[in-house]
Amino acid sequence: MESCKSKNNLSPEERDRWVLQLYDQLLELEQRLIPTGLHVLGRPTTQRETADLLLMIASFDRPEHGARALNDLIAEGLRLSSYESILRQSSVNTEKLDERERVEAIASQSISEFLKNGITAAVEFLQRHANVTPDRAKPVFLLLERVAKQLETNNEMEAVSRALRGEYIEPGPGADIVQNPLILPTGRNTHAINPYSIPSAVAFNRAERTAADLLDRYLKEHGRYPRAMALVLWGLDNIKTQGEGVAQALWLLGVRPLRDSLNRVTEVQPIPLEELARPRIDVVMTVSGIFRDLFSPTVQLLDKAVRLIAQLEEPPELNYLRQHVLQEIHESCDFDEAATRVFSNAPGNYGTNVNFMVIDSQWECEDTLGDLFVTRKCFAYGRDSQGRSVEGREARVAMDRALTRVDLTYQNIDTFEIGITDVDHYFEYLGGVSKAVEKRSHSRPSIYLSDALSRNSKIRSLQETVNLETRTKTLNPKWYEGMLSHGFRGVAEIENHVSNTFGWSATADAVDDWVYTEVARTFILDELMLERLRSLNPHSARSLVARLLEAHGRGYWIVDPEILEKLREIGVALEDQLEGVA
Ligand code: BEZ
Ligand code: MG
Repeated sequence: MESCKSKNNLSPEERDRWVLQLYDQLLELEQRLIPTGLHVLGRPTTQRETADLLLMIASFDRPEHGARALNDLIAEGLRLSSYESILRQSSVNTEKLDERERVEAIASQSISEFLKNGITAAVEFLQRHANVTPDRAKPVFLLLERVAKQLETNNEMEAVSRALRGEYIEPGPGADIVQNPLILPTGRNTHAINPYSIPSAVAFNRAERTAADLLDRYLKEHGRYPRAMALVLWGLDNIKTQGEGVAQALWLLGVRPLRDSLNRVTEVQPIPLEELARPRIDVVMTVSGIFRDLFSPTVQLLDKAVRLIAQLEEPPELNYLRQHVLQEIHESCDFDEAATRVFSNAPGNYGTNVNFMVIDSQWECEDTLGDLFVTRKCFAYGRDSQGRSVEGREARVAMDRALTRVDLTYQNIDTFEIGITDVDHYFEYLGGVSKAVEKRSHSRPSIYLSDALSRNSKIRSLQETVNLETRTKTLNPKWYEGMLSHGFRGVAEIENHVSNTFGWSATADAVDDWVYTEVARTFILDELMLERLRSLNPHSARSLVARLLEAHGRGYWIVDPEILEKLREIGVALEDQLEGVA
């Protein structure tokens, strides 16, 4: 955000708009769901967590339960415009913002009423405050009642004991709880989905808007569409969303999945350019080892889509993939090599190792991180022009060449439980591929993430996402106190977050100075907090200080010399404590 001083010269209208945007950002921080503390096997969710989860679950249509989205029902009952349009306009229009707050407050109060006094009371509440008829409200609360009961109990301890005895554990679907509450009760043997069923129709519909928003954002910032982009696809995410990431890739290429007589998605069909109303994007897909193993038919589908699009007789300026493939054939190689776009690890191999290199500080030059990504991920999958299966053929030159043209890198986030600083996998993948692109294309790509967690799904730049995670998690007392209540392990989690944040400096230079400064102030320079960390887990406290010093040492953090000096002193004291000198 710009400084307040520059706002003094604004016209009253501009200032109002700016204040509204600021308010919208604060609302986003406030409303973000975050996990508070680690999951403890066998322990059910707290009342507060249950209320938040139910509200989120109720915010989506559940046709399989005959339930409409609660916010839609309320907006309709109040005779406002659709909640969807209220949401879209609420960051630029005060009236819409008021409407949004009114709808959301009623939704939240109805959930509280439900938890306190049951279904009938909640249904009456909605009728009284929003004219929602009981026949419309009741299915929502019947679903919530079932979910609430299942949240109170779980089979986790029993299932772990059974697993240890080698006994049968009942299976259950793997998904995000908000996307599919049928995952409850927990403590079952998670199964995936039939890979031939993805992308589901719902996933394909949702992906249309996400892909369009992504391209719009790039267009707004650069005045043109991205010509080529690198997309990260993970297995677990596509299980949880029934293939939203896959569907986004198909939309970007401009193809529709087709089902055969057995209802399996085995073919694709080009969406005509007139319907698409934009160019087809060249999409380089880097898929995880888990995705490759779980979604073998989908890997084939994606490769088929690329080959189909590359061969369409369309103007190259409206089909960037074809344009690039023709260019490559002309310059140096055959069609099969030029149209290779689906890459993963060598068969039997997993991960990029970029995370290990960063966390262990085993690197000098950042280019090494991108090169390692390519070394691990340059194995091609699909089928060649003769119809022969390609199962992990080393294709380093093809990958290098494909990345040379990339100007946008992207990954979809699909759950509120795990964000880009919770684990090291986001920076090893999205960061790794971005760094690889930077060297090969001679410029840093624009890096975006989509956040399909809520109705108000959004495209954010990497930097915006790092800021959001920092404010809602790492620096949020609700988050870190939740972690600290776990003692030793909690301090390790805080330190992990800072290291994962550092991973975004190393791979993408996406962390602002204030992030490290506030981390230092909150956890190290605050004497009381430092003492808590030190007594709970001096090893992680020492690593945290070392990571901050490394951030400075590698040029990612410009810091006040006094803070630096203090950190160094504390670092030495922690070393001494651990070596028993103090
Ligand atoms: C996956 O589901 O593909 C995945 C999970 C964790 C790390 C990387 C990939
Ligand atoms: Mg910087």
